[in-house]
Amino acid sequence: MSDWVAAIRRHFPSLGLQIKGEAAAFFDGPGGTQVPSAVIEAMATYFQEANANTHGAFLTSRRTDEMLQEARSTVAAFLGAAPHEIAFGANMTTLNYALSRALGRLLSPGDTVLITDMDHEANRGPWLALAEKGIRILRAPIDRQRAILHEEAFLRLLEERPRIVAVGWASNAVGSIPDLPRLLQRARDVGAITVVDAVHYAPHYPMDVKAMAVDFLLCSAYKFFGPHVGILYGREEVFRELPTYKLLPQEDAIPYRIETGTLNHEGIWGTQAAIRWIASLAQKEGSLRAQLEASMEAIARHEEELFAVLWKALAQMADITLYGPGPEAPRTPTLGFTHARHSPREVASRLAEKGLFIWDGDFYATTLMAELGLQERGGLCRIGLAPYNTMEEVERLLQAIEDL
Ligand SMILES: Cc1ncc(COP(=O)(O)O)c(C=O)c1O
Repeated sequence: MSDWVAAIRRHFPSLGLQIKGEAAAFFDGPGGTQVPSAVIEAMATYFQEANANTHGAFLTSRRTDEMLQEARSTVAAFLGAAPHEIAFGANMTTLNYALSRALGRLLSPGDTVLITDMDHEANRGPWLALAEKGIRILRAPIDRQRAILHEEAFLRLLEERPRIVAVGWASNAVGSIPDLPRLLQRARDVGAITVVDAVHYAPHYPMDVKAMAVDFLLCSAYKFFGPHVGILYGREEVFRELPTYKLLPQEDAIPYRIETGTLNHEGIWGTQAAIRWIASLAQKEGSLRAQLEASMEAIARHEEELFAVLWKALAQMADITLYGPGPEAPRTPTLGFTHARHSPREVASRLAEKGLFIWDGDFYATTLMAELGLQERGGLCRIGLAPYNTMEEVERLLQAIEDL
């Protein structure tokens, strides 16, 4: 095990879990990563020192206000945004419904919205719901052979001048990544408001919202070492005009206009702790943003190294079919596969007995699974890599799959 990964693992108390005397190996990151002590402690600190509602005259309430503000600044650094462009919510799905309901108010019957068949249902369902108002929904298809978005078909559909374009940055099922900057620029060129689901991309690569033509971007802290909190970035110029559904006394300014009810304060404080923990991996001086970029690059390098070994070995196993592009293409270290003789649930159950935690199913990428003809067969097995995974764990996993 490299010193880098050994040092990282010391931060994660949950990695001590044993199954029948063997250390558990967590390959379930795309469904939610493990959490470092710094995040657990930050959440406890919130409860011990600042637990109150916002905007009161007394100490714990003032602390809560300050902590939420600091968390917005930290998330802003993570995304390359400004603090007032960062809103929090229960999770990505709930925020995206709030966004679609609000944007839907700007549309008229006959207007079009473009979504993709690659996406998690959380970036499809909220837009499909607009069909009830007479909005036409266009669906960009997948390239079935490679399990990636059919980008040329997507670009052709832009000729219909959709008012909103909702697209994922990376597939949570097979890891493929489209040429998003190009797709977003073309969407903006035809006048669309652009919405990006970055939930699966966020744990793996640095992000800069100002470097792309993106108006709204969503992610979820529990996918990058944080607690269960949803995050919405809204580009100021568009966010300011967003007609959200809100209570009368709720603040109208951004980002508050989309934040209904009392937020998950302890989770938000844990979210900033997760981002600061990522930044700490860089072990270098500089701005938070510079540290985050360096850390995310280091995470990506580690994950890519493990992924290349995993992909190559599985590609050589006769019973295994791999989905999505290989390591040479832009992708996350998330590998979808099927076994010729065992259903995904059987594979996951057999591996679970050996302490190897992988996901099986459709992961809510339901349309993609149907398009790949996998829905009736139990979907895919999904191996996800995180910075705390080791080469030894990967070798153990490969041996166990071979032994099936
Ligand atoms: C790509 C992608 N988008 C959206 C979601 C939904 O996120 P949340 O659970 O925060 O609603 C997930 C969750 O797995 C996801 O992987």
